[in-house]
Amino acid sequence: MTELIHTDCTNYDPKTLIHGVKILREGGTVVFPTETVYGIGADATSDSACFKIFEAKGRPADNPLIAHFGSIGDINRYCFWDMVEKRKELEMLWPGPLTVVVKKRDLISSVASAGLDTIGVRVPDCDFTRSLIQNAGFPVAGPSANISGRPSATSILHIKEEMWGRVDLMYDAGRTRIGIESTVILPEGENCTVLRPGAYTEEDLLRIFKTVSYAKVGGKTMSPGMKYRHYSPSKKLYRADPEILIKVAENNPKVLPIVSTELGERINGNKLVLGKKSDPVSISRNLYSFFRELDGSPYEAGIIESFEEKGYFFSIMNRIKKASIPITEMADFK
Ligand code: TXA
Ligand code: MG
Repeated sequence: MTELIHTDCTNYDPKTLIHGVKILREGGTVVFPTETVYGIGADATSDSACFKIFEAKGRPADNPLIAHFGSIGDINRYCFWDMVEKRKELEMLWPGPLTVVVKKRDLISSVASAGLDTIGVRVPDCDFTRSLIQNAGFPVAGPSANISGRPSATSILHIKEEMWGRVDLMYDAGRTRIGIESTVILPEGENCTVLRPGAYTEEDLLRIFKTVSYAKVGGKTMSPGMKYRHYSPSKKLYRADPEILIKVAENNPKVLPIVSTELGERINGNKLVLGKKSDPVSISRNLYSFFRELDGSPYEAGIIESFEEKGYFFSIMNRIKKASIPITEMADFK
């Protein structure tokens, strides 16, 4: 049976923590909020607890989980954090949407790390969740709270649809602020590899590292999770530059446009407006919930605006590209 408790990332009643702490300590699963997307949490030091996460999500066993910490000071007990040359600089980005892949100690379950000797660590920017983890007394393994292959969940409504009955407890803290998953990096001395782009951009990382490179799909240092189909709506989603998108929208009433506020002003009729291009976080915040809205709509397909891949839009486009089919001419559109 699943239980639901309402809470809030900043203004929460400490009593709401008690039940979640108890379930985590008993080896159960708890859906928790973060600033990026919701996670499904379990004791990261317990094989059997972590196994339940894989089962609940239908997640391939070779895709490791992220270990969430309530406090930076605890990381070195569970991982070789002291070996990371740029740790002090990286710590300045926490709490926040950053996951750092480091060598794990034996305390971290090898089910959580999918048999690897490394694990992604992150300190989420949600006071409630950090307090939940601190009170549990161990790091909490937590992938995104969605069935494997579906878009990550940014509100409890989406999680209820997919995960009700599959986890022990869900904490509802409203919609998440950022809406796409954390930046995952592998630091190696003064250099770093981005395994998954996110809200911390290349620019942010170049303030810390000499070089920043990107993992190639299929490459050795790739994040195992990136090879799986991800982030996509079930219906067909096309992507196009603004001028093509406008033409498609005008000629295809069964296709739902998903666009920025600026482009939306040029489209008559129904559309989903992501947010202003001057405020990219408003765009990422709505992205996955609009994928789900498209699936629940009477429209046959969607068409999403293609953005210039600069700054944070590089990360937003990373998710859009994984979810959509590019079209460059009206003729491409069938
Ligand atoms: O924002 C987020 O990161 C959210 C919230 C809940 O914290 N979590 C999340 O988890 O997106 P998940 O499991 O959906 O994505 C974790 C990514 C996967 O692509 C996984 O392969 C990668 O991190 N990862 C974890 N440990 C790794 C490791 N040792 N080496 C390489 N990649 C790793
Ligand atoms: Mg995920």
